[in-house]
Amino acid sequence: MTSATDTAFGCLMVAAVGAAAAVLYALAGVGRPGVLAAVMAALAAVAVAAARWRAAHSSRGSLRPVERLRRELERLTEDDAGGRVAVPATGDEAELLAERVNELLDRLETAILQRRAFVADASHELRTPITGLRTRIELALAAPEEGDAVDTLRRSLADIDRLHRIVEDLLVLARLDSGDIPAREHIDLGALVEAEAALRSPPVAMVVKVEPGLIVGGNRQRLGRAVRNLLANAERYAAAQIEVEARADGDGAVVEVHDDGPGIPFADRDRVFERFARLDPARSRDKGGSGLGLPIAREIALSHGGTLEVADGAYGARLVLRLPLSR
Ligand SMILES: Nc1ncnc2c1ncn2[C@@H]1O[C@H](COP(=O)(O)OP(=O)(O)O)[C@@H](O)[C@H]1O
Ligand SMILES: [Mg+2]
Repeated sequence: MTSATDTAFGCLMVAAVGAAAAVLYALAGVGRPGVLAAVMAALAAVAVAAARWRAAHSSRGSLRPVERLRRELERLTEDDAGGRVAVPATGDEAELLAERVNELLDRLETAILQRRAFVADASHELRTPITGLRTRIELALAAPEEGDAVDTLRRSLADIDRLHRIVEDLLVLARLDSGDIPAREHIDLGALVEAEAALRSPPVAMVVKVEPGLIVGGNRQRLGRAVRNLLANAERYAAAQIEVEARADGDGAVVEVHDDGPGIPFADRDRVFERFARLDPARSRDKGGSGLGLPIAREIALSHGGTLEVADGAYGARLVLRLPLSR
């Protein structure tokens, strides 16, 4: 029941009680107890009837839209990701509730569509090396004396490595998506960057500059993986040089990986963080990229309270990972 109806009902009751009091006063004055008793009984009956009517009206009035909402929600299924409930123009809680439900359904629809696209992309990524593997083995079996068995095995191993990398990346993403928080410790970010850089054998010069004492709270394996993914991309695209830097910046720490390759066009700065996105699919696939390196690195940054962005630079690509410093 709305507050306007409540007020009207209240006024009515006050007026009725006032009138009854006046009648009672007059009757008591003239000393007619029989009539007085009858009037009091009538008033009590009216009061009980009014209270019943109000209770019934009030519960029906407020439950009707809620009941309809419940039925509409029951009708919605996951297949019908675009379904919404009708919003009653009642100007009260029922309207607000229906609006909130629709907002929730919006978010659910986005998540469902993203999941479908992700499963389709993942299946496609896995199918490509599996098809290659199958064709090669079939050809080798059809004419064993013609082919080079060692070459067949070597190429098959490359496909299996590729499958392995994709599955590994998918597992890492699944763990990140699940929101699990692995063991955290205080990490010297500069030392971690130096250690990751030392593990690489880049085809171009790599200059590494790190400040000492950049202590961040985080998971060593995950932060290492984020840095590794950035280094792997820089190695793939750099023309002649890669600069890697870890430094303090405001109240945070920054890891910057800057190469002198073709760079990432401004319009694609967000797209490269989408799962399976590759600006040049043919080239990236040849070199074994699954399009999950940057999305994983960004998820890791976010789960550490940080960010990962493509930043402006005079040349090439500049990837900037920011993390909060431990206090
Ligand atoms: N340093 C870089 N220079 C130019 N393009 C890059 C660089 N790093 C990433 N990219 C682009 O972003 C895409 C996505 O990168 P990533 O998620 O690491 O996937 P992958 O390395 O598997 O292709 C790459 O395919 C490439 O097009
Ligand atoms: Mg990559």
